[in-house]
Amino acid sequence: MISRITGLSFVLLPMVAIAADAPPRFEREIAPLLKAHCVKCHGPAKREAGLNLSTPAGVARGGKKGPVVAPHDIGASRLWERVSNDDMPPDAPLKDDEKDLLNRWIAAGAPGLPTVDPNGSAEQDHWSFQRLSVTPPPTVQKADDRPNSVDLFIKAALKTQNLSVGIEADRATLIRRVSFDLTGLPPTFVELDEFLADKSGDSYRRMVDHYLASSHYGERWGKYWLDAAGYADSNGYFNADSDRPLAYRYRDYVVRAFNSDRPFDRFVREQIAGDEMAKFEPGQVATAEIIQLLEATHFLRNAQDGSGESDGNPEEVRIDRYTALEGAMQITASSLLGLTVQCAKCHSHKFEPISHQDYYQWQAVFYPAFDIDNWVKPNDRVVFAPLPGEQEHWEVQRRENDERVNQVRVELAGWVKANRPRGEILFEDNFDTPGSSVGQRWSATAPGDDTPGGIVPVNPDSDTAPAARVRAGQLQILEGNTQGSSWLSTKQAFDWTPGQTGESIQITFDLIDNKLDTDGKPAERIGYYIALHDFNDNSLTAGGNVLIDGNPGGSTAVHVDYPGGDSHDVGQIGTTAYTPGHNYGIRVTNLGDDKFRLEQLVDAIPDEKPLDLKSADLPDGGFGFEWTIFASNGSVRRGLRRMRCW
Ligand code: HEC
Ligand code: HEC
Repeated sequence: MISRITGLSFVLLPMVAIAADAPPRFEREIAPLLKAHCVKCHGPAKREAGLNLSTPAGVARGGKKGPVVAPHDIGASRLWERVSNDDMPPDAPLKDDEKDLLNRWIAAGAPGLPTVDPNGSAEQDHWSFQRLSVTPPPTVQKADDRPNSVDLFIKAALKTQNLSVGIEADRATLIRRVSFDLTGLPPTFVELDEFLADKSGDSYRRMVDHYLASSHYGERWGKYWLDAAGYADSNGYFNADSDRPLAYRYRDYVVRAFNSDRPFDRFVREQIAGDEMAKFEPGQVATAEIIQLLEATHFLRNAQDGSGESDGNPEEVRIDRYTALEGAMQITASSLLGLTVQCAKCHSHKFEPISHQDYYQWQAVFYPAFDIDNWVKPNDRVVFAPLPGEQEHWEVQRRENDERVNQVRVELAGWVKANRPRGEILFEDNFDTPGSSVGQRWSATAPGDDTPGGIVPVNPDSDTAPAARVRAGQLQILEGNTQGSSWLSTKQAFDWTPGQTGESIQITFDLIDNKLDTDGKPAERIGYYIALHDFNDNSLTAGGNVLIDGNPGGSTAVHVDYPGGDSHDVGQIGTTAYTPGHNYGIRVTNLGDDKFRLEQLVDAIPDEKPLDLKSADLPDGGFGFEWTIFASNGSVRRGLRRMRCW
């Protein structure tokens, strides 16, 4: 223990001694001092006397009256003059040791300050705004057989530590390193053998060229840019993270740009203003060049964008839109300016070269493409830019494919009908028995319930809406000006939780029409139920009344215990819209462990996105149709026939 402490102080002492003699270093001692005492008044945000003391270039440039630091010349340095006479900082003068530091630094020649263009603009002082310049490689004394300038930098640095480079790696290792570095992949056996066998003087150079020419080069190096550009295949809105199905076009653009050695300035311009460069008008026939320029502009759409999902209150919608706009600005600034601008959104910040005002002036440049009041949701921001003949060809192909898919669907439906295990038919109503009436097997009151479903219940076998009648072999449901969820239920109850694992029960029906009688407007929903048993929630058995809210536009919402306060949305099922001319329904399958899988059936085939319920959600009950509320006072006819439960 003791020896350790002694050892420590022994090491520390000489270092302190050196520091006292050496001139203060700009980055270590001077810059922090200026930041602490001066930058709040002499920084990018507030530039008193035109002086920016937050960057080395700013200190070197000086203020409106010119440089404030004259290296080696204390007397000519206004910075020293103002600090030494306690003029600066005005409110809290520096302590003696701090002044001493500045004095010694200037006297030693103000090391660490760059030479700046006296006519240059102070706005360019930030490190990332500097022009790229060529730094000539250091000269290393010993002649070398590998005249690679990177090696010269390394050797010069090693020399200061009295070190030299190690021995050259063997050729198998070399090709492996180059291959990984340039393509991200190991060399193939053929590449390895060729390189080992190539004894010519420029074999290394040719091997490197080979990998630079590989299409994997663009994949490997494009990835870095894609990271900087925030590339993503989804919109990134918490768990409503919807797909960006066309983002890959931008990814491929970047890979191609690397593989075709696109000059960086052009690469940047294309991504920020490709649409302006393309001069493309929607409807026009495009060229390969135009398409490429349009793909490049997806750069500005890489940011997180939840505006397609946010349909909540107007404030949320607005915030989500601004977030997409701000995200595009942030990515542009971080990838191209080396700045994280988000602080300037709310206030100017001591060190941020972009002020609060700059931020909003800059935002105005982006605004037209992100017009908050005329917003286009992310996945609708699609432009059709076909090559000559491409759209026509695509349309022909699409029609052919649609026809083929339809044909296969019909064949499959036929096959399924002919070959499915028929099971036991628990209930069947074709509505085509002469003289049959709805009221024989259907009722407005669910089996076991004490009141009819709905505030205005259904009239079976009536023409007075809300009503259900049989006409021309169809069950027709007449929509009235009803309120609440009227229903037409089977009188018969069914067990919706089959006992054995793997066993199922299903209901299906043909949807013949969904138009209102009077104005031909389609119904908003094709609602139907399973496990109907209790309208007004006074039954001892909870659950049931599972509403399948068939949607003419897309996926179907499922509610348990509908209607009433305890009704709850359990999610979406299926992805297929409800359109007349198809057979729809629901299958419930026992998966074991009290899990009952609901699948939407479309033309007897299970649809995507099933849902799982528990047995408590599915007490015994009827099957029925619902009256949904419509905007008009007309009536609706939902022709329904051939209903089976088995
Ligand atoms: C509270 C604000 C404030 C702080 C802090 C401050 N200054 Fe100043 N400084 C000013 C203002 C205002 C002026 C212009 C008026 C003047 O020259 O007195 C100025 C002027 C100067 C000038 C003259 C520029 C020229 O071109 O002649 C120098 C040099 C200077 N400050 C250095 C410093 C240094 C170094 C610090 C920190 C150690 C500092 N200031 C801290 C407000 C401040
Ligand atoms: C969403 C708006 C917002 C953003 C973005 C924001 N700030 Fe602030 N910031 C504020 C507000 C408001 C205050 C003032 C708080 C107060 O007065 O209590 C503040 C105060 C500060 C202060 C204290 C200032 C003082 O003089 O006391 C600092 C430091 C600061 N912010 C730094 C930052 C930095 C760094 C960032 C970026 C990383 C940032 N802020 C981003 C809103 C923001």
